[in-house]
Amino acid sequence: MIDSVKYSILGEQEIEHNLLLPQHINPNKHSESLFERAKKKWKSNWRCYTLLIVVVLLLVATIVIPVVILSHRNKTDNLSYKCESYSKDIIDATMKGTLAYSRIATMCALFGNRLSGSTALENAINWVEQEMITDGLANVHKEPVNVTHWVRGNEYASIQSPYFKKLNILGLGGSINTTSQDGITGEVLVVTSFDDLTNNSALAVGKIVLFNVVFTDYGTTVQYRVNGPTAAAKAGAIACLVRSIAPYSLGNPHTGGTATTTIPAAAVTLEDADLMQGLQNLNQTIVVNLYMEAQTLPDKAVSHNVMGDVIGSDLPDEVVVVGGHIDSWDVGQGAMDDGGGVMVAWEAVRLIKALGIVPRRTIRVVAWTNEENGAAGGANYALLHANETFFSIETDGGVTQPYGIGVQGASDNTIKALSDLGEVLKGVGSDQVSVGEAGTDNYPLVAAGVPGGSLLTNMTQYFWYHHSEGDGVDKLDSVEMDKCVATLATWLICLANFNGALPQ
Ligand SMILES: *[C@@H]1O[C@H](CO)[C@@H](O)[C@H](O)[C@H]1NC(C)=O
Ligand SMILES: *[C@@H]1O[C@H](CO)[C@@H](O)[C@H](O)[C@H]1NC(C)=O
Ligand SMILES: *[C@@H]1O[C@H](CO)[C@@H](O)[C@H](O)[C@H]1NC(C)=O
Ligand SMILES: *[C@@H]1O[C@H](CO)[C@@H](O)[C@H](O)[C@H]1NC(C)=O
Ligand SMILES: *[C@@H]1O[C@H](CO)[C@@H](O)[C@H](O)[C@H]1NC(C)=O
Ligand SMILES: *[C@@H]1O[C@H](CO)[C@@H](O)[C@H](O)[C@H]1NC(C)=O
Ligand SMILES: [Zn+2]
Repeated sequence: MIDSVKYSILGEQEIEHNLLLPQHINPNKHSESLFERAKKKWKSNWRCYTLLIVVVLLLVATIVIPVVILSHRNKTDNLSYKCESYSKDIIDATMKGTLAYSRIATMCALFGNRLSGSTALENAINWVEQEMITDGLANVHKEPVNVTHWVRGNEYASIQSPYFKKLNILGLGGSINTTSQDGITGEVLVVTSFDDLTNNSALAVGKIVLFNVVFTDYGTTVQYRVNGPTAAAKAGAIACLVRSIAPYSLGNPHTGGTATTTIPAAAVTLEDADLMQGLQNLNQTIVVNLYMEAQTLPDKAVSHNVMGDVIGSDLPDEVVVVGGHIDSWDVGQGAMDDGGGVMVAWEAVRLIKALGIVPRRTIRVVAWTNEENGAAGGANYALLHANETFFSIETDGGVTQPYGIGVQGASDNTIKALSDLGEVLKGVGSDQVSVGEAGTDNYPLVAAGVPGGSLLTNMTQYFWYHHSEGDGVDKLDSVEMDKCVATLATWLICLANFNGALPQ
């Protein structure tokens, strides 16, 4: 140990010399002289040693440190060109505020809700088209789509017996009307499931059947809105009421599409559904009067998908799509469902353009039409554009705090690759990548083999407002919307700059 220390300090010659000395003679004196000699040697060679240290420091600074930093940073940039640095620019820009909230406020104020076949919907689509042109997007245009033309007309209902009470109702989209001037008056049978109706089908004949099914999750409970009226008609009912598909209520009914049936169908509030359940449990005879003018007009209305691009530099014919649906039900303002979704998608694309980012693939915002009662917009889009679509993201779950994206039609390897990219969004809280539903407007693309995703958001209160008069701009938050913009814009650029094909 000590010898090796000497060796390194004194150098080879000194050691050799040392070994030639008789060890038993005056060892102290001997080591003094060694030290002196080492000092002299150091003095004469200090320039060499300093140079050596400087060279080592330089090597550390120029090679080791950058390699350590880049091996961390380039994890995403190897996957997708400049994904991380563009994302940082995007997040910084969104933190200063975006146009998403002011645009949803403007659209909802100018045009209101936007049901397929309505003038309001086409006016809103024309406005979006003009604004996209103002934004400087490329290829801004509308594509015609034939859509169903259902109109609500006037409607009302009330409990007649055991006492009078006005019912707050909303006819279900696609429902027929009650034909007569006086509407339909009949006894109510409350059931709590399809099974319950089957077990009591003899009692349903000639009655108004009310499905009182407590909300668990949307996918499960919405079956009663979609298929309940058909089942009631089959059992011989004269009309169908459905407890609104919502977990919470301040007396607001929620509409939504239903399968076409031979009897009129409407949603009642949670409160009124529970009231009628309570009356039935007390063996009271409940009589309800229902009046509806709803009808599907024979003509197919013409609506439009509207879209605009930021053209890609390397692969302009491969398109990364982001969008939401511009149509809504004919209640509230269609702010959450899904005007807000359109705005954050559009703003993500506008921001990429405004920041001067040139993507490798083309990036496109699409506002699909007719998602709510026909989904003809998404179908028409896939027919024309599936062959050029690299990836498509829909946002139709509200524009609250984003968590990430749910991806459908992608392999585990793709999920893994996307998860690595998604890490850049940790700071926004939206870095999650999971297997999920791509969204109604993406289904035809996914069916054609295109991977699709949807923005994941905090949906805690989404179904409080969904398809009801409660769906207004007042339910949206501009900071949360800006976070959605940051998330979508990041995904757009990371996917548009993805190196190679997505692993299948
Ligand atoms: C819409 O319907 C009309 C009349 O049936 C038809 O001529 C036209 O091709 C349809 N358009 C689209 C985009 O499907
Ligand atoms: C319907 O009847 C079947 C057979 O009697 C019974 O097992 C089931 O629990 C009933 N369902 C409901 C919802 O009452
Ligand atoms: C309702 O009627 C049923 C069947 O006749 C009876 O068993 C039940 O006790 C009655 N309930 C009340 C609250 O009167
Ligand atoms: C009910 O709908 C039919 C078409 O299904 C229509 O001819 C009729 O005018 C409608 N009646 C009312 C009262 O709206
Ligand atoms: C995609 O399909 C459309 C419509 O069929 C067609 O016009 C277009 O040329 C196709 N594009 C590519 C890249 O195959
Ligand atoms: C989700 O939003 C609700 C309000 O709608 C809020 O109370 C809750 O804390 C949020 N959850 C998370 C995880 O941020
Ligand atoms: Zn929607």
